[in-house]
Amino acid sequence: MRSLAGRLALTHLLVVLIAVAAMDALVLVAFERLALHQRQVAAFTETNIAVNLVEPYYRPGCPPLESSPGLLEVVRSYATQSGSRVLALDGSGRVVADSMSPAGYTGRTLTHPEVAAALAGRSASRRRYLPTSGWVLYTVAPVLQDKRPVGAVFLATSLADVTQGLAGVARTMVLGSLAAVLVAGLAGVAAARSVTGPVVRLTRAVERMGRGDLGQRVAVRGRDEVATLTRAFNEMATRLQEEDERRREFLADVAHELQTPVAAIRAMAEPMAAGDDPSAPRQADGSDLEVYREFAREMAGQAERLGRLVGDLLELARLESPKVRLTCEEVDLADLARGVLESLRRDAEAAGVDLRAGSLEPVLVVGDGLRLEQVLVNLVTNGLRYAGAGRTVRVDVSREGGEARLRVADDGPGIAPEHLPHLFERFYRVDRSRSRRGGGTGLGLAIVKRIVELHGGSVSVVSRPGEGTTFEVRLPAARGPVKMS
Ligand SMILES: Nc1ncnc2c1ncn2[C@@H]1O[C@H](COP(=O)(O)OP(=O)(O)O)[C@@H](O)[C@H]1O
Ligand SMILES: [Mg+2]
Repeated sequence: MRSLAGRLALTHLLVVLIAVAAMDALVLVAFERLALHQRQVAAFTETNIAVNLVEPYYRPGCPPLESSPGLLEVVRSYATQSGSRVLALDGSGRVVADSMSPAGYTGRTLTHPEVAAALAGRSASRRRYLPTSGWVLYTVAPVLQDKRPVGAVFLATSLADVTQGLAGVARTMVLGSLAAVLVAGLAGVAAARSVTGPVVRLTRAVERMGRGDLGQRVAVRGRDEVATLTRAFNEMATRLQEEDERRREFLADVAHELQTPVAAIRAMAEPMAAGDDPSAPRQADGSDLEVYREFAREMAGQAERLGRLVGDLLELARLESPKVRLTCEEVDLADLARGVLESLRRDAEAAGVDLRAGSLEPVLVVGDGLRLEQVLVNLVTNGLRYAGAGRTVRVDVSREGGEARLRVADDGPGIAPEHLPHLFERFYRVDRSRSRRGGGTGLGLAIVKRIVELHGGSVSVVSRPGEGTTFEVRLPAARGPVKMS
């Protein structure tokens, strides 16, 4: 049987069957014991009555037992009364009167063990199976004179009624049991189906999902393990679908971002290739060359933009790959900050921004120095780009508890609250054209976030429109504060 439902139902049926059969057998055995015991008690009583009836014929001075017509008469009449066969035996076990005479056992010596027991003074009984009359009960009791056995009375009772009663009970029980097993079997099939039904549905959904249909959801019923599994499946499906959706959007964004510079390059390259420039009137003094140069510069700028975009995309792809490797070393964030401030000084001057170091407390972190540098460069560059001329960008490094904190604060225009939750998303820009003009790709903060998270840290932003923006990076500090030497 290959299906789980079949196996469950079959096991259930077998267990019920075995239990019912065992119960039937136990009840029947108990019933038989009880019936037999009752019959035995009754047979002993009857035997004792017979012993009392025949005892007078065993008294000393009576005629020999085998020729006593009185004894045979008593034996016969009691046999009729009790419905059993009654035999009287002498002290040697010889039959002296048989209620079934003349054909009976008269004259034969009986050697049954119960006869021997009775002749030794103890009543005994035994159940025997006779091919002719079925189950019979032999009961033998001694006839005593002066407390000594001088003979015995042998009572043979048919047990046919017990056997029949037992058969009747057995029939009823088997019928009842079959009904019970049938009901239990049906209940088992229903229960098994209720367990495996959802599993089957789930399997179909998983198969469809495997073929790429991510819209699969399975209705959750009840709160058992299968329901939990189903819920987990649904959540997974939702996450996969969202992930798929994000990937699609990202791809569309990438295509869109690439399209603009490519279109610009094309728009300039085509007239150049054709040798005329429809946007500028042709002039005789050779100023065409100047136009060409202008176009070429513009194209170079667009190509550079493309290069930056592709570079950032590659970097993000590397950082998001599960195989990303950090080259870890101990990095002092204060040193790192000083280096970055130095390298961006010219950019700051060009942007007219006052770029300055706040308090730079030495803090060691274990991390990839180049990538951490990239974090700071991206944040400071954003500050220079979006704070605007005449503003200040300040970098602070501190240690708080077991954490290293790196802050980049500006007093620029700030960011409206509705943008803050999306700021670290790929290609999210508050002002697209402004970002573009400044050479932004929209990927800087996504890269920052990814690098910081790879280092086990977090990055957050606080901004108030009109007051400025502060980005804060938290990283686990390597160990105690560095001693100043
Ligand atoms: N210091 C800041 N002040 C104001 N706006 C900022 C600041 N830093 C980042 N932003 C906003 O967040 C957006 C995303 O930043 P980023 O991911 O670095 O992309 P971009 O390439 O545009 O700089 C920027 O386009 C800008 O709108
Ligand atoms: Mg940026």
